[in-house]
Amino acid sequence: MKYSQSAEILEKNRRFIPGGVVSTNRAANPEIVFVKGQGAYIWSAEGARYIDYHAAFAPHILGHNDPAVNEAVCRVIQEGASLYGSGTTVLEGRLADLICSHIPFVDSVQFLNTGSEATYQALRLARAATGRDHLIVMQGGYNGWHNDVACNLMTPLEQLGPRQNGVELPFCPISAGIPKGHSELIHPVSFNDLQSVRGICEKYSVAGLITEPVLQNIGVVPPLPGYLEGLRALADEFGFVLIFDEVKTGFRHGFGGYSAIANVSPDVVVYGKALANGYPIAAIGGRADLMDLFVHPNASERVLLAGTYNAHPVPTAAAIATLERLLENDGKVYGQLEEMGAYLENCLVQELDESTPWQISRIGSAFCLYFMDHIPQDWHDVAANHDFELDTALRRRLIEDGIYVFPLGAKQWSLSAAHTREDIDQTVSALVRHAKDLIEQRSAARV
Ligand SMILES: Cc1ncc(COP(=O)(O)O)c(C=O)c1O
Repeated sequence: MKYSQSAEILEKNRRFIPGGVVSTNRAANPEIVFVKGQGAYIWSAEGARYIDYHAAFAPHILGHNDPAVNEAVCRVIQEGASLYGSGTTVLEGRLADLICSHIPFVDSVQFLNTGSEATYQALRLARAATGRDHLIVMQGGYNGWHNDVACNLMTPLEQLGPRQNGVELPFCPISAGIPKGHSELIHPVSFNDLQSVRGICEKYSVAGLITEPVLQNIGVVPPLPGYLEGLRALADEFGFVLIFDEVKTGFRHGFGGYSAIANVSPDVVVYGKALANGYPIAAIGGRADLMDLFVHPNASERVLLAGTYNAHPVPTAAAIATLERLLENDGKVYGQLEEMGAYLENCLVQELDESTPWQISRIGSAFCLYFMDHIPQDWHDVAANHDFELDTALRRRLIEDGIYVFPLGAKQWSLSAAHTREDIDQTVSALVRHAKDLIEQRSAARV
């Protein structure tokens, strides 16, 4: 059996871990257990090497086990840095300085362990700052696992109803156990629909709106021109807190994330993933008057921010090393990532002819192939038009060929600074061969 060692490990783990997998969204078919990662590659328990585009859901911007990041981690351990849980540390100050000195709209930052913790704090901050309870979230966006945002990701269209500008969507939880009253406070809207945001603001007292500036949990769905600016204007008009969830886009699309590319400043921003190239740390940052609520002199107005492991020296050192690498030579690495991304895109454009209905939606090192005739604008568009069956079949074939993409349709692909032209050539050639073959098979079946 091809994955026999993996199957054995999984079988053992199933005895003590529900489903055998930690973080249940990692369960994948084929069930492969990975044992090593280096640069652009990961290795399975069977010893097979894969070019990795999954990148563990996107943190590995420099590649797996980047030597400079690992060296920084080893150094802090050897130097005896520990977790003290009392007072500040030099390391957290250095990391905060690196972020605030290079991102103009981040006056100050706080550190947490995961993206979900950071989005949780951002929403609590918005409610505390405005004294309001209602929140606007995006259909097709993912902002973490907690009750306010565990909803409306890849929702079946039957549940949502038709896409219409200006229409609030039903609250569709992606978890059991969310209190019923919650749905009254959370207002999902379609991405790229400003009218519905206005409508909700006219009806409810909205504390905040949280969105990924580019939806990257349903591929790569970019904002239409003027959309992010429109959200900024609505936030100013109605006084809600504009939160950009840059957990995926932050430090991946330039040091200032997508906010800097779009030149739109949120009130609060949240980072994770690429911040430490795979080590667990996240950040919340933004306007000083909002961030200062974490230390408000009046206890009843103060927003609680606590966490035993916040800014643990290991991930903090990893984050500093990652950011220093990203800043080196005026951000040269971003030029390299764009060059690689453009190379891959151009190769695909040349190889896949018009008989294959497909699009590549790419921003720098993040991309997604959509089997449809245009780049989607929101989740309705993806769900109604993307050929999920073809996409998933293609992903499974690529995995068989040693190219790892998460085997679920419309999931984002990520390049790292460790990918080479040879990796891309190998990927493009397999991708084109399998895509053509799958499409031909399908046409033959239809005749
Ligand atoms: C945009 C976005 N926000 C928040 C999160 C949650 O981050 P974490 O998984 O670190 O809690 C994710 C995770 O995939 C994400 O993609």
